[in-house]
Amino acid sequence: MLSKATEKAINEQIVNELYSSNAYLSVASYMDSEGLKVLSAFFFRQSAEERDHALKLLHYMLDVGGKVLIGTVPAPMATFKSVEHAVQESLNQEKTVTEQINRLMGLAHKESDYATASFLKWFVDEQVEELSTMHELLLLVQKAGDQNLLLVEDRLLKQGITLSRAHLPGESE
Ligand SMILES: [Fe+2]
Ligand SMILES: [Fe+2]
Repeated sequence: MLSKATEKAINEQIVNELYSSNAYLSVASYMDSEGLKVLSAFFFRQSAEERDHALKLLHYMLDVGGKVLIGTVPAPMATFKSVEHAVQESLNQEKTVTEQINRLMGLAHKESDYATASFLKWFVDEQVEELSTMHELLLLVQKAGDQNLLLVEDRLLKQGITLSRAHLPGESE
């Protein structure tokens, strides 16, 4: 049985993940407008992953009899100064989500809610991977500089757009 505080916190995290999903739609669209189709594809896929995270939380709520309340999702940043800026904002967003997940995990522990803590472990591990991926992309973009972003795209293509990810989204864990 979920406590009211945990139920509220999970509902908030559903909104946070949907916000991330929309933020990545914004970045993907910016990349496309810059003619960077591979980077755009990378961020569209990140967006789909974030929506999956929201659904994972939502289904957990249904499984444990929590009441799902989808709150208002704030609008994401719409304009970026550069590709580096867009990737930096994406890394910042992953850092924010990592803090949110850690707080959620902290709450589950405080309440001795072991089922929720066990469920959240997947998100803790996922954030390690997401932070690493976005950090790696930022380094790559910085190293290439504005004139050589096509080299970044080549690298992403060679790696199946996945950078350090061990598996493609949708593949079994
Ligand atoms: Fe996420
Ligand atoms: Fe993420």
